[in-house]
Amino acid sequence: MATTFAQQGVGKHQGFEYSRTGNPTRNALEECLASLEDAKHCLAFSSGLGAETTLMLLLNPGDRVVYMEDVYGGTFRLFDKVLKRYGLEFSAIDASDIDAVEKAMTPQTRMVWLESPTNPLLRVVDIDAVSEVAHGHGAIVCVDNTFATPFLQQPLHLGADVVVHSSTKYIGGHSDVVGGAIMTDNDELEKQLRFHQNAVGAVPSPFDCWLLLRGVKTLALRVERQSQNAMVVAQALQQNKAVKRVFYPGLEGHPNRSVAARQMRMFGGMVSFEVADEPTAFRTLQRLKIFALAESLGAVESLAEHPARMTHASIPAQERQRAGVGDGLIRLSIGVEDVADLIADLESALR
Ligand SMILES: Cc1ncc(COP(=O)(O)O)c(C=O)c1O
Repeated sequence: MATTFAQQGVGKHQGFEYSRTGNPTRNALEECLASLEDAKHCLAFSSGLGAETTLMLLLNPGDRVVYMEDVYGGTFRLFDKVLKRYGLEFSAIDASDIDAVEKAMTPQTRMVWLESPTNPLLRVVDIDAVSEVAHGHGAIVCVDNTFATPFLQQPLHLGADVVVHSSTKYIGGHSDVVGGAIMTDNDELEKQLRFHQNAVGAVPSPFDCWLLLRGVKTLALRVERQSQNAMVVAQALQQNKAVKRVFYPGLEGHPNRSVAARQMRMFGGMVSFEVADEPTAFRTLQRLKIFALAESLGAVESLAEHPARMTHASIPAQERQRAGVGDGLIRLSIGVEDVADLIADLESALR
């Protein structure tokens, strides 16, 4: 927990000076998370958005970022409401359409920002194909791997240059710690990020790092169970007459299922579905008993939420509609409970 470290002499420290700059527990976490993404480097942050902000501060005014349209609402808010004011430009596209990626590239494009699977519509992006296009135009590719986790998908092996995590979610896994991380194999990028990590100061406390280290020990067990549960829940929802549409990359008929099967070990623990309208969605959410009505995702307990009014409320209604996030959409984060209980809860609420 130390904030400072006794030095042997002036300018002669023993590896650590001050805990914003470096801390042994944070080092242990960074080593662990780097190994999970099979990355050379990892830097830990106080939140996913702290990680994202620090990364984006490497860009300069006039630089352009092309990003997948249904990104996490907070990522959109950071891009649109904060970073635009500093002269960065942002352009939203459907990155599951490679032609759209190619068309969006300009000489000013420095970065392509992906989420896959996306939040909340569970679209899947071919990271390999997008990386090839981006690199052809001299841009780097950053993948927010929060939904997939390094257990299911390792973007650096698929051509990406940078991986970002909200470790608040699956990495922590128990809804008790907020954190973020950036992983890369690029030494120059790591040098710049390390400077910015210290200069900006969005660093996690040693206790938070310890909690994350403890939580991540069961990542594979949790995500395996969550993915198995999610598949069964998605199939059950598909059979339910009150459900208009189910979004899950593992379902036959999902437009990107083959890409998902190629780049992911399993299909993950997130499922979204659409009911008739907003009042029906609200009533359904109100009646769930095992699923807690709450934001966030990726922990052992199942959660349900209404993206348009909760996690994605910071996206203007018009943008939301364009991206396909309707008022009848419900997003589920599937936990490790008995799947029969989860299905019974959903069926009862929908009835
Ligand atoms: C996909 C994704 N990326 C980034 C974030 C931001 O992370 P944090 O809440 O840890 O700042 C979230 C948070 O919900 C998220 O779902």
